[in-house]
Amino acid sequence: MYLNKETIADIKQSTNIVDVIGEVVSLTKSGRNYLGLCPFHKEKTPSFNVLEDKQFYHCFGCGRSGDVFKFLEDYRQVTFAESAGILAERLGLDLKLPTRQTNPAQVSPHQPLYSINQDAERFYKAVLKTTKVGEEARQYLYRRGLTDELIEAFDIGLAPGEPDYLYRSLSQKYEESVLMDSGLFNLSDQTNRFYDAFQNRIMFPLRDEFGRVIGFSGRVWQQSSGSDRQGQAKYKNTRATAIFNKSYELYHLDKAKPVMAKTHEVYLMEGFLDVIAAHRAGIENAVASMGTALTPEHVNHLKQLTKKVIVTYDGDSAGQHAIAKSLELLSDFVVDIVRLPDQLDPDEFVQAKGPEALEKLLEQSRISRVEFLMHYLLPENSDNLQAQINYVDKIATLIAQTPSITAQNSYITKVADLLPDFDYFQVEQAVNNQRLQMRGQLSQSLETGGALQTVTVELPVAKQMTALRRAENQLFHRMLNYPYVFNDYRLRGDFYFETPELQTLFKVLEQEGELDSYVLAGLDDRTQAAYYAVLEERLPEEVTEKELQELDKQRQRLLAQQDIRKQGKLVRETTSLGDQEAALIALEALIAQKRKLE
Ligand code: CTP
Ligand code: MN
Repeated sequence: MYLNKETIADIKQSTNIVDVIGEVVSLTKSGRNYLGLCPFHKEKTPSFNVLEDKQFYHCFGCGRSGDVFKFLEDYRQVTFAESAGILAERLGLDLKLPTRQTNPAQVSPHQPLYSINQDAERFYKAVLKTTKVGEEARQYLYRRGLTDELIEAFDIGLAPGEPDYLYRSLSQKYEESVLMDSGLFNLSDQTNRFYDAFQNRIMFPLRDEFGRVIGFSGRVWQQSSGSDRQGQAKYKNTRATAIFNKSYELYHLDKAKPVMAKTHEVYLMEGFLDVIAAHRAGIENAVASMGTALTPEHVNHLKQLTKKVIVTYDGDSAGQHAIAKSLELLSDFVVDIVRLPDQLDPDEFVQAKGPEALEKLLEQSRISRVEFLMHYLLPENSDNLQAQINYVDKIATLIAQTPSITAQNSYITKVADLLPDFDYFQVEQAVNNQRLQMRGQLSQSLETGGALQTVTVELPVAKQMTALRRAENQLFHRMLNYPYVFNDYRLRGDFYFETPELQTLFKVLEQEGELDSYVLAGLDDRTQAAYYAVLEERLPEEVTEKELQELDKQRQRLLAQQDIRKQGKLVRETTSLGDQEAALIALEALIAQKRKLE
C-alpha cells in the first residue's frame, strides 16, 4: 500500500495512541484519560495527558499536543511520512513511503527544458575535459584541491569564453521557444541574435531533488583582463525559468536525500565548494542554498524531508549573522550549529586541515541554538553594566525555555563565565525569574480555562488565552462537530476568524472538507497546536441554538471592544502628534462604534 489520505486514516483507525505512547512513557489511568511524565520536558509531577476517546495527547506543562503521528514525529525526530511508516510496520503493513513520481521526467510538460539543460551539462563537461582552455581551467580546480574524481562526481564543466559556442551546438536541435525559455541564452537587443548566457566560467550543474539538471551556476576563474571584466559577480546563476526557482532549490539535495532518510538530519552550508568539501569528508547529507540567503521556501522544502538541520555557515562575521537569521526561519526544526574556526568556510577548512579533521568537526563540534546565541548576543563592550543586564535578560529567557535542567545549569555556568560582573547565582536568579513569569502566565490561563487546576507545572510555556480566543475556539469546535454550523458561517461570505491560526484552519477545512492527520501534517506547528487547543474545549455534547447565538453575540462584542481599544489608541496617538484632522476622523469612528455596541 502507498501513503495517501486513506492509508493514513486506516493506520490511525487501527492504532490506539495509548498503546503507542505507553511503549515509551509510563501512563496511569486517571478518570477518562491517561497521565504520565512528559517526554518533551523535564518534570517531576505528571502533566502529560493522553485522551483515549479523542486519540490525542496534551501536556499542560509545555503545551505540546498532537495525534499519534505528531507524537512519533516529535519523539523520534522523524517526518510525518516516516511516522506513518513506523506505525504501519507496527501493524504489520507494508507501506511504500512516497518516492513521488519515480521517473518524473517522462510526464513533465517541461521535458524539452530538462533535455536542453542535460545537453548543456554534457557540452560544458566536454569542454573542460577535452579542450586547451579546459586544461587551464582544470589546473585552476586542482590548485583549489579538486581532483578529476571530484570534478566527475559533481559534473563540473566549463563554459568557453566565446559568445555563442553553446548556442551553435544546440540551436539545430531545439525549437526557438525552448532556447529562449531555457535561461541558457540571452537575446541581444542590437543584433536580435542569441548569445550564451555563460561565458568563460567554471560550471556547476544544479539539480532538483530528483536529479534532473535544472540550471547552472558559473564561477569566474581567470584573473580579469581589461576593464570590462571588472566588477563581474563571482558566481552567476541561471535566471528564473519554468523549472528553476532558486528560492526553493537546494544544491546537492538529490544526493543528500537518501542519506537524510537514514540519519534524519541535514547539513546546511553556504556554497558549492563547501558541499564538495563535506563529500570529501565522507558526508553526503549536505546542501547549500544557491546564492540567496535561506528563504521560507527552502525551509518548507526541507521540512518535507527532515526535522533536524545542522547549520554550517562560514566562520566569518557575515556567516554568524546569517546563522542568527536562519535560526528564526528554522524555528520548527531541531537545530545544531557547527562553528568553523578562524573565519574559515568548510572548503578552506578541508584545505587547511584535511578531510578527517572536517568530518570530526562536523560530527563532534556541534553546539545548540542557545549556546550559539549566548556567544552571538554577547555585548562587545562587556564592561558596560547595562549592556550586561540586557544581555542576561535575553539569555535567561532562552535558558528557561530549555527542557533539560542539566543543560540549563551548564548554560548558567557558561553565561556567568562570559560576564565580568555576574556570578553563577545572579544568572540563576534571572533564569528563575523567567521560570516564575512563565509559570504565572500558565496558572492564569488554567484559572480562566478552568481545566485541571490540580496539575503542578514545572516548565510552563502555555500562553494566557483571551476571551476572544476562547470564544473563537468554542465556535470552531462546534463547526468541527456540526457541519451545519460550519456551513452557516462559510456561507456568510464576510466571516473570518480574528485568530490567524483558526482562520487558516477554517480555510483549509473549506478546501479539504475535513481536517484529518494527513491534512494537519501539512500545516505549521502553531496551526496544528491551535487545532488541538480547539479539541480541548469542553462543551456540552449537544449544541443548542441558544448557545450558538450567544457565542456569536459574545464574539461580536469582544471584537467591537478590541476595535474600540485600537481606535482609542489611535485617537491618543494622533492627538499627541497634533494631527487634528486624523484625530477627528478617528474620534468619529470611535463614537460610531460605541453606539453600535449600545
Ligand atoms: N554566491 C553567488 N553569487 C556571488 C557570490 C556567492 O551566487 N556573487 C553563492 C554561491 O552559491 C557560493 C555561495 O554563495 O557558493 C557562497 O559564497 P562565497 O562564500 O563567497 O563563495 P565560496 O563558496 O567560498 O566559493 P569560492 O570558494 O569559490 O570563493
Ligand atoms: Mn570558499
